[in-house]
Amino acid sequence: MKLFYDRASMRHWVAEQHQSGHRIGLAPTMGNLHSGHLRLLDVLRPHADFRVVSIFVNPTQFGPHEDFDRYPRTLERDLEQLSAVGCEAVFVPSVEEMYPYGRDPLTRVVVRDLENRLCGAFRPGHFQGVATVVSKLFHLVQPDIACFGEKDWQQLAVLRAMVRDLDMPVEILGCPTEREPDGLAMSSRNQYLSPEERQRAAILNRTLQQSATAIRGGLRDFRMLESSAMGLLQKSGFDMEYFSIADAETLEPAEEQTLQIRLLAAGRLGQTRLIDNRPVEDAP
Ligand code: PAJ
Repeated sequence: MKLFYDRASMRHWVAEQHQSGHRIGLAPTMGNLHSGHLRLLDVLRPHADFRVVSIFVNPTQFGPHEDFDRYPRTLERDLEQLSAVGCEAVFVPSVEEMYPYGRDPLTRVVVRDLENRLCGAFRPGHFQGVATVVSKLFHLVQPDIACFGEKDWQQLAVLRAMVRDLDMPVEILGCPTEREPDGLAMSSRNQYLSPEERQRAAILNRTLQQSATAIRGGLRDFRMLESSAMGLLQKSGFDMEYFSIADAETLEPAEEQTLQIRLLAAGRLGQTRLIDNRPVEDAP
C-alpha cells in the first residue's frame, strides 16, 4: 500500500497511473475508520483500478465550539485496516500541507441554499468547509470516481451539486449506510456516547423507520409526522435539532407531489451529536 504525505508525491503517482490508463477511485475520510468507511472501498472496487483513501481531519469544517481538537485520530490502526482490505494508496496530508497559506483561504466553494438547510442551519460554514476541502482533494488526487456515504446524505447532495455545477470531471457514487446490529448508523462519534446513551441511540433510526412505514401506509401530513417524531425523540432524551421529511435532492420540505422523499434527523444525546437518514422504501 502506497502512503503519501505531501501533495507533490500524491499528484506524481496519480499522473503515472493515469498515463498507464488506470482509473483512480477516491474515498475521502477523516480517519478513525470503521466498517462504514471500508464499505466505500467495496463500492469503488468494480469502478477503479486503484483506490485512494484520504485521511485528513479538516479544520475548516468544524465550528469554533465543535470537536476538532478531540476528534479521534488513530492513524496506525487506520493504515492496518486499509492494508488488510487491499487499499492501494493512502493520502495523509498535514493541516499545513493542505492549507499552506493558512486555514482561512481566500477561495471557498459555496453550494448555495443546500448548505444552509438541515445540518447547515446548526453548523454554519460546515458545508463550505466540506465542499472546499473535497474540491481541493479532487484537484490533488484527480480521481475518475469518488465515493461518499449516504449516512451523510446532505453532504452527498452538496457534493453532487458542486460537481455538477462546476463541471468537475469526477463521477460521484453513494454508499449505503453501514449500521450496528441495533440499527445505529456507524460513526466515529458513537464512541463519545456513555453506555446508557449508546443503548438509547438506536431510537433515532427506529423513529425514522416508523415514520417511513407511516408514509408507505399512505400518511401524507408530513409536518404532523415530523413534529410527532420530534416529540417522541425529545421524550427519549434527545435534544433534537431537526426531523425532516424532505425532497431527497433539494432537501426542501417534502410536499404531497414530491417523488423522491428522504427522512433525515439530527439531535444530541448528552454531548454527542448524532445524525441519520433513510428513504421511504427499503432498498431491494
Ligand atoms: P468522515 O466522517 O470520516 O466520513 C468519510 C466518509 O465515510 C463519508 O463519505 C461518510 O459519509 C462515510 N461514512 C461515514 N459513516 C458511514 C457509515 N456508517 N456508512 C457508510 N458510510 C459512512 O465525511 C467526512 O469524513 C468528511 O466530511 C469528508 C468528506 C472526508 C471531508 O472532510
